[in-house]
Amino acid sequence: MIAIRTEEEIEILRQCNLLVSKTLAEVACNVKPGVTTLELDRKANEFIHDHKAIPAFLGYKGYPKTLCTSVNHQVVHGIPSSYALKEGDIVSVDCGVLYQGYYGDAAYTFAVGKIHERLKQLLIITWESLYCGIQAAIEGNRIGDIGFAVQSHCEKAGFSVVREMVGHGLGKSLHEPPEVPNYGKSGKGVKLKKGMVICIEPMINMGKKEIFQEADGWTIRTSDFQPSAHFEHAVVINKGKAEVLSTFQYIEEVYKLDDYN
Ligand code: MF3
Ligand code: CO
Repeated sequence: MIAIRTEEEIEILRQCNLLVSKTLAEVACNVKPGVTTLELDRKANEFIHDHKAIPAFLGYKGYPKTLCTSVNHQVVHGIPSSYALKEGDIVSVDCGVLYQGYYGDAAYTFAVGKIHERLKQLLIITWESLYCGIQAAIEGNRIGDIGFAVQSHCEKAGFSVVREMVGHGLGKSLHEPPEVPNYGKSGKGVKLKKGMVICIEPMINMGKKEIFQEADGWTIRTSDFQPSAHFEHAVVINKGKAEVLSTFQYIEEVYKLDDYN
């Protein structure tokens, strides 16, 4: 059963995802060589509590931190640690909150200082592919239209799409139906209806699509140790154009990919 949210529910979801977006911007201010991912996690935890919300990932199925911080060949669900970011790294920061009974969830991959040109391209293509997916996320389309849009954009550039990890419905739980794959065929899958709320979150690898789960039980990395990028927005299905509940506006006011390049 895929929930159709009322306008009142959507208003709360706007607030949840706005808070996640602002938390990611707070993190963005602190992404620089030398900072540990644990320090980023602490900032995010404090910011969320200061805004009367609860970190959604902390304690979720036993997950130990507020953020997921996935560096370089880590795809998603990297656990914040004493690892200090260094120039040339990329780091996916994924954040979720619970506020007034509803969830917010979004992610952004940052460059740390100056990064390799091909890595920059991976970030740009993955970022763009999220918006390709969002353009396909409209009433009357199907889930497969979203995946097809994401996949086509990334494969055209020679990158590969992770299959095992997918986007999801969002609302009173962090993960609700439907699953939202980043690959697929146009016209296939469940039909999208106005008021459905979904997270679209392409996980795109520079090398092969295969992944591997680390012994910590969380961290997903690429099998070939090549880098991977990840961006995520929460959107409401509407007629003609999805409403994006999260926003990268605050992040991109304080962080620019080209600042160091
Ligand atoms: N945005 C991530 C996802 O949808 C949330 C991971 S929550 C965690 O997979 F607690 F499992 F890390
Ligand atoms: Co998600």
